[in-house]
Amino acid sequence: MLREFVSLVVASLWLGRCAYAAGIPAANNTCTLAPLGEGQDDTDQIEAAIAQCGHYGTTIFAPGEYNVTRKMTWDLVESKVDLHGYLNFQANLPYWMKPENTYRVIFIQSQASWFVITGNDFVVDAHNTGGIIGNGQYWWSWYGNGTRIDGDGRPVALTVYRAARGTVANFRIESQPFWCNAIAESEDFVYDGMYCNATNADPLYFGQNIVWNTDGKCIDTYRSNNISLLNFDITLGDDCIAIKGNSTNIYANNITCHGGTGIAFGSLGQYYNLIDNVENITLEDITMVRPDPTIQPYMEHGVYFKSWSGTTIGFPPAEGGGGPGRTASVVARNFRLDNVTYPIQLYQTNSAHPGDAPSEYQFGDLTFVNFTGTAATNLLVDIECSPAAPCEGLTFQNIDVAPPSGESAEYTCYNVVSQEGLSSKSIRQLSH
Ligand SMILES: *[C@@H]1O[C@H](CO)[C@@H](O)[C@H](O)[C@H]1NC(C)=O
Ligand SMILES: *[C@@H]1O[C@H](CO)[C@@H](O)[C@H](O)[C@H]1NC(C)=O
Ligand SMILES: *[C@@H]1O[C@H](CO)[C@@H](O)[C@H](O)[C@H]1NC(C)=O
Ligand SMILES: *[C@@H]1O[C@H](CO)[C@@H](O)[C@H](O)[C@H]1NC(C)=O
Ligand SMILES: *[C@@H]1O[C@H](CO)[C@@H](O)[C@H](O)[C@H]1NC(C)=O
Ligand SMILES: *[C@@H]1O[C@H](CO)[C@@H](O)[C@H](O)[C@H]1NC(C)=O
Ligand SMILES: *[C@@H]1O[C@H](CO)[C@@H](O)[C@H](O)[C@H]1NC(C)=O
Ligand SMILES: *[C@@H]1O[C@H](CO)[C@@H](O)[C@H](O)[C@H]1NC(C)=O
Ligand SMILES: *[C@@H]1O[C@H](CO)[C@@H](O)[C@H](O)[C@H]1NC(C)=O
Ligand SMILES: *[C@@H]1O[C@H](CO)[C@@H](O)[C@H](O)[C@H]1NC(C)=O
Repeated sequence: MLREFVSLVVASLWLGRCAYAAGIPAANNTCTLAPLGEGQDDTDQIEAAIAQCGHYGTTIFAPGEYNVTRKMTWDLVESKVDLHGYLNFQANLPYWMKPENTYRVIFIQSQASWFVITGNDFVVDAHNTGGIIGNGQYWWSWYGNGTRIDGDGRPVALTVYRAARGTVANFRIESQPFWCNAIAESEDFVYDGMYCNATNADPLYFGQNIVWNTDGKCIDTYRSNNISLLNFDITLGDDCIAIKGNSTNIYANNITCHGGTGIAFGSLGQYYNLIDNVENITLEDITMVRPDPTIQPYMEHGVYFKSWSGTTIGFPPAEGGGGPGRTASVVARNFRLDNVTYPIQLYQTNSAHPGDAPSEYQFGDLTFVNFTGTAATNLLVDIECSPAAPCEGLTFQNIDVAPPSGESAEYTCYNVVSQEGLSSKSIRQLSH
């Protein structure tokens, strides 16, 4: 304790930037910082402030842009960060793509992170005036139509890892290069106010989706429990929210997704040797907005579920399959859809090859309530469960999405043992 106290005094004298009055216990530490300005590197001063005030203190970032040139972890314990400005992760793709220049704390698909928040009992509030500048355009144009594979090193903008009882609030992520958020191995965590926007402005790619993998939120594998996702506004070209293996007790409310592939459960069952359990997930008040197709042509789903097939071919991060597990107790309620391609879909053939064994991954106890708006196809509900794991306990209430004019609504149910709420005369096929 004494040693900590002394070193804090020494550190604050040394750095000069952090306010610290002698005699006041460390618990009342406040560090204040402002951007150093054009051409300067802010990474050192940010790390010093968090090192000094990240435990039992408050760190206040004045408005403006902070130049961040290398990977960074914030270890926060019983503390607050007021991030009034933006962390601008410099656009330097060759640098970030070197494996040693990012963290690999997200187990699933070995994804890379340039910024990790960890710890317990903390609040990071960006006041809707701060967050992260990801310089995504540089990355999207660099990749253009090129191959992108999971685990190739493109960094997640904001990673919460091994955190408990934390809050990230009023946070803006401008042009994420890759996934916008991930939370892994964490619990009792609240996101309240999250903005992510991956919008291509390179005319070479108008009319195409070049912002792949810019997922809004990935509740990642490995035991993330009791997470709230509140008040999100997400623009992208991939999954708006992705619920992955071992996500339990998740509550999402007031989520708006502009473009992309909708809210995903999965992919699940990629790792043949790991169980992916997903349980007690509630999604409510969700709005899907189809953007101008010249900017972003995808608005694929309201909500969808995807597992790999039953055969393992290759290894993660990019390949695999054959993994076990179960998704149950899901409620998706109050979805407002603007011309989405498939409002509700489930398939168990993610990345499947001809002749693969059917998936044994089990989906069941899924409830869909109050879906309104419009669809771009007449297939409003497309449930294709695996013959090796037929689905039980599907409930549909007030699925009132309009198909394109002149067409009548259709549903598909393959390998569904029991469902309630879909009129059987509209079901194209029901077999098990
Ligand atoms: C430190 O802050 C706590 C509350 O956060 C307060 O109760 C305590 O009185 C403060 N101590 C000093 C010396 O200011
Ligand atoms: C960021 O810092 C680096 C030095 O590490 C500097 O070369 C670069 O110009 C700075 N960028 C900005 C936008 O200030
Ligand atoms: C990407 O594909 C589009 C056509 O789909 C083409 O016009 C464009 O030139 C391609 N870009 C690159 C970098 O290959
Ligand atoms: C879930 O997390 C929230 C936010 O940290 C907390 O207030 C609540 O007590 C947690 N619920 C349970 C059952 O632990
Ligand atoms: C996303 O960014 C684009 C380009 O900067 C902008 O035109 C659009 O309004 C933004 N979307 C939202 C929802 O803020
Ligand atoms: C999920 O949790 C189960 C047991 O609770 C564990 O066996 C499994 O390995 C976990 N899976 C992942 C992907 O972490
Ligand atoms: C929903 O979230 C948006 C931010 O994405 C916020 O502006 C709006 O006030 C929220 N609506 C409600 C009813 O809380
Ligand atoms: C389901 O999760 C929510 C938090 O999202 C929690 O409040 C609720 O108690 C959980 N229900 C069960 C049965 O555990
Ligand atoms: C159905 O969802 C819409 C939003 O999509 C909401 O405005 C409406 O209140 C919901 N209806 C009921 C009965 O909950
Ligand atoms: C719905 O989206 C599809 C695909 O982009 C488009 O062809 C169609 O014109 C849209 N329908 C309406 C009514 O906007």
